Amino acid sequence: MGYDVSRVRASYPALADGYAYLDGAAGTQVPQPVIDAIGDAYRGGIGNVGGTFPASRRSDGIVAECRRAVADLVGGAPEGVVLGANMTTLTYRLAYTLAGQWGPGDEVVVSRVDHDANVRPWIQVAERAGATVRWAEVDPATGELPVEQYDNLIGPRTRLVAVTAASNILGTRPDVPAITARAHAVGALAYVDGVHATPHGPVDVAELGADFYATSAYKWSGPHVGAVIADPLALEALTPDKLRPAPDDVPVRFETGTAPFADLAGVVAAVEHLAGLDSAASGSRRARILTSMATVDAYEQELFAELLAGLDAIGPVTTYGKASRRTATAYFTVAGHPPRQVAEHLASRRVNVWSGHSYAWELTGALGLRDAGGAVRAGLVHYNDRSDVERVVTAVADLAG
Ligand SMILES: Cc1ncc(COP(=O)(O)O)c(C=O)c1O
Repeated sequence: MGYDVSRVRASYPALADGYAYLDGAAGTQVPQPVIDAIGDAYRGGIGNVGGTFPASRRSDGIVAECRRAVADLVGGAPEGVVLGANMTTLTYRLAYTLAGQWGPGDEVVVSRVDHDANVRPWIQVAERAGATVRWAEVDPATGELPVEQYDNLIGPRTRLVAVTAASNILGTRPDVPAITARAHAVGALAYVDGVHATPHGPVDVAELGADFYATSAYKWSGPHVGAVIADPLALEALTPDKLRPAPDDVPVRFETGTAPFADLAGVVAAVEHLAGLDSAASGSRRARILTSMATVDAYEQELFAELLAGLDAIGPVTTYGKASRRTATAYFTVAGHPPRQVAEHLASRRVNVWSGHSYAWELTGALGLRDAGGAVRAGLVHYNDRSDVERVVTAVADLAG
């Protein structure tokens, strides 16, 4: 494996500020090439798309290159990459559009492992359409989403199954291919939330069986841009609300208003950055992404084992989640200290973590944590190193006493 974390860290200017950044699950830092790509786009002159002059053509080029880059990242087709403000906004848009085809008696399946952005939009549109919502339950002892329950949840009236590729607090990676296969067996669509999963390992939307796969670039070292990747033919079959003069072709039909073109240039640079993480990776950009992200996964899992062992060795600490497949995301409480107080103590030690429900509303409810302020989340991404792990463990141990 050609992974050199010090080389990678050196490309992130923000990491030089002396803080341990364990808040990547809420948004990552941005490496210099991404910052440069955004600055270069503005410096070089950009215009709105579809014009006759070079600055406009440059924006056309950036948008096309951005679709290619995101498609390479997750294994889709560039014509199926819908770009937008963030995952939540795009999911609401898709939900409104898809529910236009639902009626009373139709069913949608959501899960209690998911971030609320892949739950509430489906509940709200289902209610309006008179459709029924069915729940896939989490096993609170392990944080697993047992797949067998989908045999009972999915039936002839199921129109859509929404499920996450990874929990943003416990890291649980449900068996998405098994769930989407059950959805497809009855002709239902699968909407997969890939926001937390994408930065932690290789993604292949076809392997997952995702008809729609949502991701957010700001979780993988890019700017604040979201994307939904779908089969272009599936997009052709849908008619979102749109302005009359706005283009009707796919995927542009789903994109409202003017895009943040400079940020899209940053998304391309972020994908290049991920592709280059393993210096031994070679071949096409897609091939380098697959190699690099597999390396990132292995690297993060090794550090995660140290993080969990360190936290579990502290008596008053309780860690949550024991899924067999999970991202490097620790969620824990410290007896006698509310989660926010733990986060404040860690901030005073220059360690960035999150506390609270982190929008995993149903999951924190199922774990019995939501009303007590959730728990503390310390998440690892590819730029974290052993010193970050040591710092968070030492600071928690000092607080726990
Ligand atoms: C798993 C997961 N899904 C969805 C979202 C929402 O993403 P966005 O901020 O792009 O709307 C988040 C954000 O934290 C997340 O972690």
